[in-house]
Amino acid sequence: MRIPFNRAVHFPRAEELVIQALRSGGMSGNREFGRRCIAHLQEHAGALEPFLVPSCTAALEMGALLARLEPGDEVILPSYTFSSTANAVLLRGAKPVFCEVEPSTLNIDTTRVAELITPRTRMILPIDYAGIPCDMDPMLALAEQHGLAVMQDAAQSYGSTYKGRAVGSYAPLVAFSFHETKNNSCGEGGALCVNDPALTERSHLLQEKGTDRRRVLLGLQNKYSWVDVGSSFLLADMLAAVLIVQLEENAEIMRRRGLVTEAYERLYRPYHERGALRIADVPDYAVRNNHAFWVVFTEEEHRARYLHAMRERSVSPYIGYLPLHSSSMGERYGYRPEDLPLTESIGSRVVRLPLYAELDGDLDYLSEAMSAVLREMFGA
Ligand SMILES: Cc1ncc(COP(=O)(O)O)c(C=O)c1O
Repeated sequence: MRIPFNRAVHFPRAEELVIQALRSGGMSGNREFGRRCIAHLQEHAGALEPFLVPSCTAALEMGALLARLEPGDEVILPSYTFSSTANAVLLRGAKPVFCEVEPSTLNIDTTRVAELITPRTRMILPIDYAGIPCDMDPMLALAEQHGLAVMQDAAQSYGSTYKGRAVGSYAPLVAFSFHETKNNSCGEGGALCVNDPALTERSHLLQEKGTDRRRVLLGLQNKYSWVDVGSSFLLADMLAAVLIVQLEENAEIMRRRGLVTEAYERLYRPYHERGALRIADVPDYAVRNNHAFWVVFTEEEHRARYLHAMRERSVSPYIGYLPLHSSSMGERYGYRPEDLPLTESIGSRVVRLPLYAELDGDLDYLSEAMSAVLREMFGA
């Protein structure tokens, strides 16, 4: 048996909807299935105005444009994230300022954000690693105090909640990913939830290549023209047809992924308690969507041994992100590995375990393989 790191879940009823989209005569963005996804995100993610876009990368870029980031501006974000979070900042000519993570969630260390604020800071851009929402309230308070924008990179956390509120509802800008590797996927896709009423009108212009085309579609004027900057931040309706099914099936997706999370908790928690390794402690304020499960070993060498032993059993864990500050791009921006020692150290010891909905059928094999490896490494 082979256990890959990820496998996208498929619901056969999406096939019929894709054909319907193809035959509809209107396959571009914001058509029938796009509108259904938007209504769904309003209802279930509590978003004021969600925009379906081609990827989370695009959502972050649209958010950076909306926030009017400019050359010379600084944006505070964790180094432990994907390149897209930092690229959205760089593409506006602004500078990423990397912050350490905290070890129980690998999310941004909110206690260290204040010390990174300078007169040039314009935005705080945290992520929700592994689907566990970051502690947003302290950052919203700092942003309010210093007049900063806040964008939440929620690429991994669709379906999670923070203090009882759905991710998507409580930060001014929230970017979701619907990439193949995420819980809810249409191959490539994303959404930007705009919750600041002052930004919604302009979001439509940015989404439609800087034109006021939407006003024509609404019957408010009879021609549209170039009125702002923008790009093509739209998702084709065939993909929205796939996505609406994935959003409607979210409870089932989370339930099945939850069975895998529970199995991992049973296997790894005892080793966590003995200090042999570390797994996430989900804070009281959060309910996770079971997107990912990570293990941080105490030694880099333990990670190498674990990866080797799992691959010998045809199981494919993955090392996760490589910290951005010590990447070649990070170095170009003046960072050295020792600038964020905790992130650097965790980045060399962390592993992400296979996690996808259909894995619930292979849990016996997987648990046996994993417990054998853990026993070999750390004793019974
Ligand atoms: C935190 C984070 N942001 C952004 C992205 C990019 O998402 P997408 O592939 O939808 O552009 C990812 C992808 O894994 C991610 O983990």
